[in-house]
Amino acid sequence: MQPLGTSVALGAVLFLGALALLTFCPPGRGRRAAGREPPGLLGELRARREDLGRYSGALSSQALAESRLGCADLASLTGTRYLGSGFSKLVLQATLADGSAVALKRIHGEGSDVRRCVRLYRDPAGCQRLASYKLRKEVTLLRGLRHPGIIQLYGECYDNSLDPERRVTAMLELGSPLEMIQLLQAPWEERFKVCLSLVKLLHYLAHSPLGSVALLDFQPRQFVTVDGDLKVTDVDDASTEELTCGGDADCILEFPTKSFSLTCAAAGRCEGINEKRNLYNAYRFFFTYLLPHTAPPALKPFLYDIMNATGDLRYGINETLDAFEKVLYLYKSGLHLPKRSQHLKEFLVINGFRLQEAADYKCWPSYNHLGCLLSVHNANEAAVICNSHPQCQSFIVSQQRTWTGRLLVTFRSNFTDLVPDANSAVYIRRSSVLRKR
Ligand SMILES: Nc1ncnc2c1ncn2[C@@H]1O[C@H](COP(=O)(O)OP(=O)(O)OP(=O)(O)O)[C@@H](O)[C@H]1O
Ligand SMILES: *[C@@H]1O[C@H](CO)[C@@H](O)[C@H](O)[C@H]1NC(C)=O
Ligand SMILES: *[C@@H]1O[C@H](CO)[C@@H](O)[C@H](O)[C@H]1NC(C)=O
Ligand SMILES: *[C@@H]1O[C@H](CO)[C@@H](O)[C@H](O)[C@H]1NC(C)=O
Repeated sequence: MQPLGTSVALGAVLFLGALALLTFCPPGRGRRAAGREPPGLLGELRARREDLGRYSGALSSQALAESRLGCADLASLTGTRYLGSGFSKLVLQATLADGSAVALKRIHGEGSDVRRCVRLYRDPAGCQRLASYKLRKEVTLLRGLRHPGIIQLYGECYDNSLDPERRVTAMLELGSPLEMIQLLQAPWEERFKVCLSLVKLLHYLAHSPLGSVALLDFQPRQFVTVDGDLKVTDVDDASTEELTCGGDADCILEFPTKSFSLTCAAAGRCEGINEKRNLYNAYRFFFTYLLPHTAPPALKPFLYDIMNATGDLRYGINETLDAFEKVLYLYKSGLHLPKRSQHLKEFLVINGFRLQEAADYKCWPSYNHLGCLLSVHNANEAAVICNSHPQCQSFIVSQQRTWTGRLLVTFRSNFTDLVPDANSAVYIRRSSVLRKR
């Protein structure tokens, strides 16, 4: 999954493990003293402590001084329920005293991370401590990294009176798990929004205050959505270390089906490896599934170009962001639509009215489940869509807009029950008015 990161981390662990062995098991003393962790575990603990120190040192005083939630808020939480869990953490939802909902993260005492450690070292307390470093690192990183694409840390509580498993609790912005299947059924505009959020996040990470950050474990389950925007929630596997190298041959970025040869920069680091790793992961886990599927035909060439360029790492994150902004611009301005069309002439406009809401024919991918609600650039595009639906006799344009500013239009098979509404207009197919008479 993360060959380079793992091998580096493993190397560090082995090295520090050996160091710990020398320090704590002097020759002639076979058994370890009671209460002292096994050498291997000590090494792992030390490696994690050092990793944590690397990020704590980089925190700005502003990040440390902010007024935030703490242990007192934790004590007054209600309505706690399970949200999710992974190898190392348990996530709960809870309600604060002021009624707002938050996500809580704790160490997952029964998770496979702790279980592996206990199996290896038979030291449950030490293993809890090891696991707690992951969460502490996450908290530290979240304090230093602020971006709309990163879940917001509201605060944390370190309570030594609790058992180790519950000692560290992070309080976070609440999101919803990212459902790829659901997203594939959503309008293209929503999928594009998710990809654009991701690209903006990767742009920030490449130039973050802590350096260029790689998300070593990059999978949809590390992300949640808040109002349709993608946010990363699992950052304990993030790293600002760029692979050290003696020559270009050391700089191979490997993925299951592809590998890239990068250059070894003068500073002895593989140049841009963190940025490139993130970008290729975005391509393989997100773009290939979400970008081209049901995209407006005129935008497809641009989207395939983005996919080709990120899939071959021809683009860096800056160029990728530029390409996304260009697609957004085209989409917002309607430049991708046919210039002239006669379709709107076939409709009669009644301004200042809408239709009584009612269940009607369904279409895909509708923004609601009751009928056919689609986004359009203007009434003209709505007329083209109406003409392509056999059931469509009318459509209602209101002031409601999507995140890109496109109009939300309801398509109807009928035009009875007109209701006055200053902000709406009803478009009725002329041919059906004639038929009614
Ligand atoms: N802020 C949040 N809001 C809603 N759900 C969340 C939030 N944070 C995490 N979750 C859910 O909890 C799950 C576990 O969280 P997280 O990924 O941080 O734990 P982990 O043990 O590091 O997982 P992994 O084994 O995938 O690395 C996530 O997959 C996600 O579905
Ligand atoms: C990009 O396009 C080139 C030329 O058509 C092709 O050879 C290559 O396989 C494409 N790469 C990806 C990742 O699609
Ligand atoms: C990318 O953009 C960032 C910030 O906008 C800038 O600092 C950086 O120099 C750019 N990198 C390249 C390679 O153009
Ligand atoms: C349209 O409205 C008329 C009158 O209310 C009703 O008789 C007819 O069944 C409706 N047609 C559809 C398709 O709903």
